[in-house]
Amino acid sequence: MNSLYNRDIISIGDLSKDEIQAVLSQAAEYEQRLARGERHALGQVLQNRLLATVFYEPSTRTRLSFESAMNRLGGRVLSVAEAKTSSSAAKGETIYDSGRMLEGYADVIVQRHPAIGSARALADAAGVPVINAGDGAGEHPTQALLDLYTIQREGAGGMQGAQLRALDGLHVAMIGDLKNGRTVHSLSKALSHWKVDLTYVAPPELAMPRDVVSFVTGRGATVHESDKLSDALQSADIVYVTRIQQERFNTVEEYMKYKGVYVVNAAVVAQAKPGVAIMHPLPRVDEIATDVDQLPNAAYFRQARNGVFVRMALLSMVLGAV
Ligand code: NCD
Repeated sequence: MNSLYNRDIISIGDLSKDEIQAVLSQAAEYEQRLARGERHALGQVLQNRLLATVFYEPSTRTRLSFESAMNRLGGRVLSVAEAKTSSSAAKGETIYDSGRMLEGYADVIVQRHPAIGSARALADAAGVPVINAGDGAGEHPTQALLDLYTIQREGAGGMQGAQLRALDGLHVAMIGDLKNGRTVHSLSKALSHWKVDLTYVAPPELAMPRDVVSFVTGRGATVHESDKLSDALQSADIVYVTRIQQERFNTVEEYMKYKGVYVVNAAVVAQAKPGVAIMHPLPRVDEIATDVDQLPNAAYFRQARNGVFVRMALLSMVLGAV
């Protein structure tokens, strides 16, 4: 049985390099099988299995790609899209109580919640595996897996190639609200299994949390920090752009200080290394101009699509079907 069977996926830091690689190769297998039209066979993999998705924060991609993944594998989905207002949390139910209840309803639970540590709290209560789909400004481990998958798939020229790109030796720049953005926390930890150079570009008040920096440097990654976009461009193979996380600011005025601070447009991409892949977990607000969309370097919509293959892999591994 694969070592992710029956495991909670809370922090990407809990997964070994081998486990991450196993998810990525299972995702590649599912992508190829879908491309070959093996829909019927894939639809047998998780038959009679149930996934509950419980989202207390907005989501388009994460929830729908989990649900798409489960459906493609023949499983079924129970879903609370606006758990904050439409679930019993609005009546004061605790995460512990919802965990005790949900374990009776589903074989695996995917939760997004605004509080750091909420996924761990649910996992401690529920006797079925819990997958963290974002716990406030904490982590987003499944996004990190699909980001790694995308980095591997984006070959020279920014196009998806047949060859997988090696992760050792890569220079990855991350730009934006690195303090509050959970995707960059998880992606940094995931990348630190390989020999990577990381450049963090953020206003000083929104810098990468120190615990993430020490985690990755402790594993041997090189970190450069700056508040200038130009520093992210010089030699980066991947430019990973993120949104200023408006919902984590106390006031609109505070948010407005940073909104629009970095904008990557086609002219900016032209200054970067040829073949640079421009990634973004989405949704974007104004930090990537639409004139980038037409460039072969724009990887973000392919990145979103990759979420389905990676989540198919993860669900089938956690549920012990592979
Ligand atoms: C991200 C998230 O929710 O953290 N979105 C996503 O899952 N693709 C990024 C964001 O909201 O900025």
